[in-house]
Amino acid sequence: MTKHEAKERIEKLKREINHHRYLYHVLDRSEISDAALDSLKHELVLLERQYPELVTPDSPTQRVGGVPLAKFSKVSHGVPMLSLEDAFSKTDMSEWRGRIRKAYPGGDFRFFAEQKIDGFAISLTYENGVFVRGSTRGDGLVGEDVTANLKTIESIPLALEMENIREKTQKGGSTMRVSRKSKDIPKSLISSGILEIRGEVFMTKKTFEKINEERKKGGSTLYANPRNTAAGSIRQLDPAVAASRKLEFLAYALVTDVGQASHGREHELLEALGFKTDKTARECADLDEVFSFYNEIGNRRGKLEHQIDGIVVSVNDNATFEKLGVAGKAPRGAIAFKFPAEEATTRVNDIVVQVGRTGALTPVAHLEPVPIGGTIVSHASLHNQDEIGRLGLKIGDTVVVKRAGDVIPKVVSVLTNLRTGKERAFRMPARCPVCKEAVQREEGEVISKCVNKKCPAKNKEALAHFVSRKAFNVIGLGDKILKKLSDVGLISDAADIFFLEHGDLSPLERFAERSADNLIASIASSKKIALGKFLYALGIPHVGEETARLLAEQVKSQKSKVKSDEVLKVFQNFSLEALQEIPGIGPTAAQSIHGYFRTPHTEKLLQKLADAGIIIESPKRGAVAQTLKGMGFVLTGELASLTRDEAKDKVRERGGEVQSAVSAKTAYVVSGAHPGSKHEKAKKLGVRILSEEEFLKLLDSTF
Ligand code: IVH
Repeated sequence: MTKHEAKERIEKLKREINHHRYLYHVLDRSEISDAALDSLKHELVLLERQYPELVTPDSPTQRVGGVPLAKFSKVSHGVPMLSLEDAFSKTDMSEWRGRIRKAYPGGDFRFFAEQKIDGFAISLTYENGVFVRGSTRGDGLVGEDVTANLKTIESIPLALEMENIREKTQKGGSTMRVSRKSKDIPKSLISSGILEIRGEVFMTKKTFEKINEERKKGGSTLYANPRNTAAGSIRQLDPAVAASRKLEFLAYALVTDVGQASHGREHELLEALGFKTDKTARECADLDEVFSFYNEIGNRRGKLEHQIDGIVVSVNDNATFEKLGVAGKAPRGAIAFKFPAEEATTRVNDIVVQVGRTGALTPVAHLEPVPIGGTIVSHASLHNQDEIGRLGLKIGDTVVVKRAGDVIPKVVSVLTNLRTGKERAFRMPARCPVCKEAVQREEGEVISKCVNKKCPAKNKEALAHFVSRKAFNVIGLGDKILKKLSDVGLISDAADIFFLEHGDLSPLERFAERSADNLIASIASSKKIALGKFLYALGIPHVGEETARLLAEQVKSQKSKVKSDEVLKVFQNFSLEALQEIPGIGPTAAQSIHGYFRTPHTEKLLQKLADAGIIIESPKRGAVAQTLKGMGFVLTGELASLTRDEAKDKVRERGGEVQSAVSAKTAYVVSGAHPGSKHEKAKKLGVRILSEEEFLKLLDSTF
């Protein structure tokens, strides 16, 4: 990028960041996520680092804090409400430890680690144990008085447990939980006139989802995330609004000095006083222990009831912490060790069309590689032309990309203000990019398709589908190996896979002896397959896993094992009408199945698979009592004791049907952890909801 281009980009970034900061800090609204905004700021920081002469005093990189609103009365913070420096890696953490050790060589550098709640910082003042005032952070020095709203939060005690403590202290501790910790409660805490406590107001993910569900029903726009919703609720003038929002408070600091020696001790005192504190928080002797805590919490992140964006690590010894002092707006003795953000901004370098197994053309965004959620993301599917239209995306645009957990990356929005004018519109090609045949897009359909039966791209994808987990499940036969085998002409259709010999594989470049052995063994062990999986593997258009299984159920074979040429005969005997009458199979799928078994290509393939020795097992009947026969099941949320696929198999084995959407025909909705909208839909329709435990019982009772 030339200096001139950098200058233009910097100007645009500054304007965009300021716009979002205003929405966020002043209006409690946001159009893009914190992570996306951070990502824009990061780009600006890098550019300004490269061209320091382009840094201006009005750059968002030169400012910290927010503007208090005029609508609440102002409160001055006796002790400023600081922010924290961020660390993103173990190296950042080691560097921090190096800095503080150097700043105060005589210090005690053991740590205290706790969750960093993604909420809204609040300061609470108690006079003689009574809650008198609560305020927001504001700009760190002056905040807003939001006492009335805070009083609606049940986890904020209106009166502290002073009596409780005093009594326990006098008795010298008893068997009660608080008393164990409070037996050495300092006298100064009990007699202290004024106590200041700080912590985070937040909204649980569940409450947030409920609120949005309601808003959806009422046709209102949806809230962006729990953090902003919590912040917005606290800054409402009408406390009735805050009361209806089920907010929570978690205390993390006792600001008043009552002689507490460590941050860990502060947590104990806060708990004794009646505050909710982070139960997972703990002392860490060194950074290795901090890293273990970080990993543990990171792994549990998705399952926690609230959102967190990292951990806070403090020097545990308060004397050392004080000595270290403040640098800028942050205390030197504490740091936020952030989890990888789940969103980032990046540029779309190109949009490339891929051809799938069914011939569907999928536009894929080729992105400037960007780390998101701990991995580098360089591609995101754009699904179809309509999606690109909905996003208003052009090649060259800066976009917000999201990748949460194991979810595939997704382009969420386009930052059109950052356009230079050089962006190019994308059009779906009229010809297949691989075989160059004309593509078709049916009336009313969103997908364009290559209909050339011989298209090599389709063939490659069909092979990958054939060996995939839910089909033949050939372990070790990934895309790269499949490509290599097709390139050298060893396989041209799926059946060829079963004719491969050790000697075919071992001469291949980088195909070591061992892996050739393993692959041959793995192929041999997949020769036996259930009929449902076999039908799914064939990749018949409009036949997914469930339709394939329903179809398999129709085969009332006397034999438990058949060959694939026999399967062909069986299905050729099904008339279109007979297929259409199978419950759960729609007219499009019926038509497709009917056509599929009548093509010479299918006949040839199934004959070849029979010759290769593929053994197909008909559905076992009578092995498991069909106690769920005729019952429709919908699964939502995560189950702890079995995977989604295992749960589906169990329902099906017992004659039940797994449905993808809740309807009046659904018998049960099985609801695991973090259930989605299906749970709500079931409630609305009065469909019986089963917990995991109830579901397991129901399955058990089928034996
Ligand atoms: S300690 C000097 N502990 O993170 C500030 N902060 O980025 C001391 N936060 O404004 C903060 N959970 O709103 C601390 N367990 C925790 C926290 C926490 C969330 C927030 C807090 C602060 C921001 C700093």
